[in-house]
Amino acid sequence: MSSVRIENVTKKFGKVFAVKDLSLDIKEGEFMVFLGPSGCGKTTILRIVGGLETPTKGRVYFGDKDVTNFRPKDRNIAMVFQSYSLYPHLTAYHNIAFPLRIAGKKKEIIKKRVMETAELLGIKDLLHKRPRELSGGQSQRVAVGRAIVREPTLFLFDEPLSNLDAKLRVQMRAELAHIHNELKITSVYVTHDQIEAMTLGQRIAVLKDGVLQQVGKPMEVYENPKNAFVASFLGSPAMNLLEGKKFSFLSSYGKNKLVGIRPSDISIVKSGIETTLDAAEVIGNEIILYLKLGDNIITVKTKSLKPSQLKPGTKFYIKFNKEKIYLFNADTGEKVKSS
Ligand SMILES: Nc1ncnc2c1ncn2[C@@H]1O[C@H](COP(=O)(O)OP(=O)(O)O)[C@@H](O)[C@H]1O
Ligand SMILES: [Mg+2]
Repeated sequence: MSSVRIENVTKKFGKVFAVKDLSLDIKEGEFMVFLGPSGCGKTTILRIVGGLETPTKGRVYFGDKDVTNFRPKDRNIAMVFQSYSLYPHLTAYHNIAFPLRIAGKKKEIIKKRVMETAELLGIKDLLHKRPRELSGGQSQRVAVGRAIVREPTLFLFDEPLSNLDAKLRVQMRAELAHIHNELKITSVYVTHDQIEAMTLGQRIAVLKDGVLQQVGKPMEVYENPKNAFVASFLGSPAMNLLEGKKFSFLSSYGKNKLVGIRPSDISIVKSGIETTLDAAEVIGNEIILYLKLGDNIITVKTKSLKPSQLKPGTKFYIKFNKEKIYLFNADTGEKVKSS
């Protein structure tokens, strides 16, 4: 196991900055998640940590060791990707055993490690099967098994769950958390999925256009976003961001402000700001309302409305919970103050 230090790393592809002057310390045993939209540089930073890419500038350290110019195979890392690329002609057992065989381990040691790994992943009864006989979730478990079997110093995950269906994703998420709890191997996990980030990460690092926006514990980042981008990226449905100058009822917050409020912090009241229902989504016992206010749509999360109230065009009166308002500079997006 090892800590990881990413120091002023920049990666350019031609004129594109995939990663810009990024610095981050990952603690020994920590589960760190990089979160950001597609194209923000997640895979690039992961490949730099794994040695598959060399930074244009900056250094990478494992513990005190500068590994910037180490080849992947000299870093003792294990990687799990979105496509799990198992060897099709080998059984699950031999897929998991593969890295140990390459490392020249003895047969008994291999068997012991493979069985322990299969036990941890709950796939003992699949070991005789070949990849084409396995479901997506089973294949991904075998791929995880192959990665953890040789006890790497560092685990790298690149959106490993994005090919799985929703139910399986939830299950695998819990399993990955469980495996990390058991093995406590330093892990770097990249995803565009904020729920994955919130549930798996001990800390999350939010990226935009190759630039690190904020690092912190999931709830810290959620509750105290540094800028409008982070605020709107975490939380589902996303935080409402309204230009203060467009609404008279927001004028007290000042002109050059973006006013942020989460959909769950707006209530439906008898008299308040008048809006018109554009669309409604009923999700179990929760209802998401998309309310028109001028040419803006305000998202509100609520409960207990009658079906008859969910017709487009219905009037709704809303009230913001003033304590839950976030204020951002309308030009820079930086947070100015949270009330
Ligand atoms: N090998 C490459 N050659 C040229 N451009 C690349 C290469 N890899 C990534 N990029 C560019 O770098 C940026 C970041 O890409 P990537 O790290 O794959 O983002 P993410 O994983 O967050 O979707 C994108 O603009 C992408 O097009
Ligand atoms: Mg990627």
